[in-house]
Amino acid sequence: MSHDPLTRTTEPLPAARYLPVRPDPAPAHLALTGVGAADPAPADPTTTDLPPVDLEVPEGAALVAPFEFRALADPGEGQRWSTWSSVVKGARGPQPRPSWVITSQAAIDTELGVLKTGKEADVFLIERAVPGSAEQTAVLAAKRYRDREHRNFHRDAGYLEGRSVRRSRDQRAMQGRTRYGMQVLAGQWAMAEFGALCHLWSLGVPVPYPVQVDGTEILMEFIGSDRVAAPRLAQVRAEPAELAGYFDQIANAMRAMAANGQAHGDLSAYNLLVDQGRVVLIDLPQVVDVVSNPNGMDYLQRDCRNVCTWFNSHGHRCDPEELFGELVGLAFSQY
Ligand SMILES: Nc1ncnc2c1ncn2[C@@H]1O[C@H](COP(=O)(O)OP(=O)(O)OP(=O)(O)O)[C@@H](O)[C@H]1O
Ligand SMILES: [Mg+2]
Repeated sequence: MSHDPLTRTTEPLPAARYLPVRPDPAPAHLALTGVGAADPAPADPTTTDLPPVDLEVPEGAALVAPFEFRALADPGEGQRWSTWSSVVKGARGPQPRPSWVITSQAAIDTELGVLKTGKEADVFLIERAVPGSAEQTAVLAAKRYRDREHRNFHRDAGYLEGRSVRRSRDQRAMQGRTRYGMQVLAGQWAMAEFGALCHLWSLGVPVPYPVQVDGTEILMEFIGSDRVAAPRLAQVRAEPAELAGYFDQIANAMRAMAANGQAHGDLSAYNLLVDQGRVVLIDLPQVVDVVSNPNGMDYLQRDCRNVCTWFNSHGHRCDPEELFGELVGLAFSQY
């Protein structure tokens, strides 16, 4: 029995970006050996895990390859190639990866608009989708940390205590607030928030699933529906019974963090989204270690006070000091 493992084309191909795709049906003996052979086969049978290639085949020359190539349209205005394949594995979200995460090399990111410009970062709505594929499409929130002079640095002082910066050039630049230093800080905040999201998501704390981090940009699960972001708790009008339910969810999330020795560090009704009755914690670059950070207890206490003050002023009675005491107990119970 003979198989022709090679796809041959003698037609000159137009210079363009091509996605290697598996021949369908793939000859069994091809099985992508020799190409990322150590990697498990990708779930999508039409992709090869090979990066797209820019090809220019001179007229009359023959392209001989074990794959077929599908020409991809170039990204248009407000678009880019999906950055998924360009980030290193450690900069991708934790397993098990939700099924909606798009990993195809053929995906394009399309900027859909600004969700909110904040003090330290801007949050954009983007769509990551494979053109022509109805299933392979997902809306994501892109949080981009600012690295410009007008960034507000109120968080940088206390929260960074105890975190080490290895490269002394980075340390000096951060202290000197040079342009380069600001970039380093912005990237550090993005990395810190991404790390916190990964850790907390894996613990089951309700936070957006972190898809990837790339420099100063975090891509994460979009909390909302039909491209409309879920409201912040501060904007929600709720009945007493609903309020009690929200408080319980938040207290439980705080308990789960405290049992892990951590506090959000900037918790308020502005950093809690309410998505169809489910409360999700956002804005986590400054997650603090309650015990080892010299300011940890103060941040935990402030979180408790911010949350309880909001609930008390909306008619749900709760005691911030009682909550604080319980969480401190949980934080120390690991020692
Ligand atoms: N994953 C998400 N899904 C939906 N909306 C989001 C998401 N992340 C952020 N947002 C929206 O963007 C806003 C700003 O996000 P975040 O609080 O993380 O950034 P920030 O720069 O700290 O903003 P601020 O200075 O307003 O606190 C949120 O209040 C929320 O409305
Ligand atoms: Mg915020």
